[in-house]
Amino acid sequence: KKKIIIDTDPGIDDAMAIFVALRSPEVEVIGLTTIYGNVYTTLATRNALHLLEVAGRTDIPVAEGSHVTINQGTKLRIADFVHGADGLGNQNFPPPKGKPIEQSAATFLIEQANLYPGEVTVVALGPLTNIALALQQDPTFSKKIGQIVLLGGAFSVNGNVNPAAEANIFGDPDAADIVFTSGADVLAVGLNITHQVVLTDADRDKLVQSNGKFAQYLSRILEVYFSYHHEAYFTRGVYLHDPTTILVAINPSLVTFTEGVVRVQTTGITKGLTILYNRQKRFGEHTEWSDKPTVKVAVTVDAPTVVNLVLD
Ligand code: BDR
Ligand code: CA
Repeated sequence: KKKIIIDTDPGIDDAMAIFVALRSPEVEVIGLTTIYGNVYTTLATRNALHLLEVAGRTDIPVAEGSHVTINQGTKLRIADFVHGADGLGNQNFPPPKGKPIEQSAATFLIEQANLYPGEVTVVALGPLTNIALALQQDPTFSKKIGQIVLLGGAFSVNGNVNPAAEANIFGDPDAADIVFTSGADVLAVGLNITHQVVLTDADRDKLVQSNGKFAQYLSRILEVYFSYHHEAYFTRGVYLHDPTTILVAINPSLVTFTEGVVRVQTTGITKGLTILYNRQKRFGEHTEWSDKPTVKVAVTVDAPTVVNLVLD
């Protein structure tokens, strides 16, 4: 079984992703690490513990992540207007009984990578601060971690925070640039992929009508997420960012990808922009690009299969 750690800012689509992972027999979820993004980190931790209680999986440890960006300077952007003030569709769930473990997210990531070298996949569903901290704290982390599959970027399409930037990259662009240039085995799933993966209003009715425990729970929290999408986008449905990323981590053949150098714009009106440089021969004159290790970037997706797997 593939061991995965989910780094997450729950978050409605994060909740879907966590449930998909827990229902997938191909993987073993060995921990959740938390990060700000859809909500502040303290609430992300509470939501992670809550979701594991809903799933009956309190055996899985939760390690709390960073409360600030890697450079500690930037004001956080919190997407509560997408996910509700509580991050989970304003449902007033009772507080979780469980507590996070003592270790920080970055320390937990390093420890697990040391314990199972090359075997742990990190699925990163929020800003990349924790992963960047792990890379800084342990320079061998990039080689000990198996793969980093991340929801991040908007490759040659508009962003969702500003026209250039996707939210998880915008949340900590410096951390994202560290991760993309670290030499780790990275696979990026961006908005160019997830804006093709839509859970329609009709699909949501299927969830509402299902007796399944997760379907019932998700149809409650999804209401706020649908309202936001109906207002913000032309599409009649919601984007399945994080569940798509989990499914790609489990089964990479759901996407095709290209390989190249990715750098991140960290300031200005295009802050959070992800640029992919994937020429066959990279010339030496632009060393900020040509000297950097490459990553994989998803370019096509089997969207109907992903939607059906999520519904299943
Ligand atoms: C990403 O940002 C978060 O709001 C979502 O949970 C997803 O991970 C989409 O840009
Ligand atoms: Ca997320």
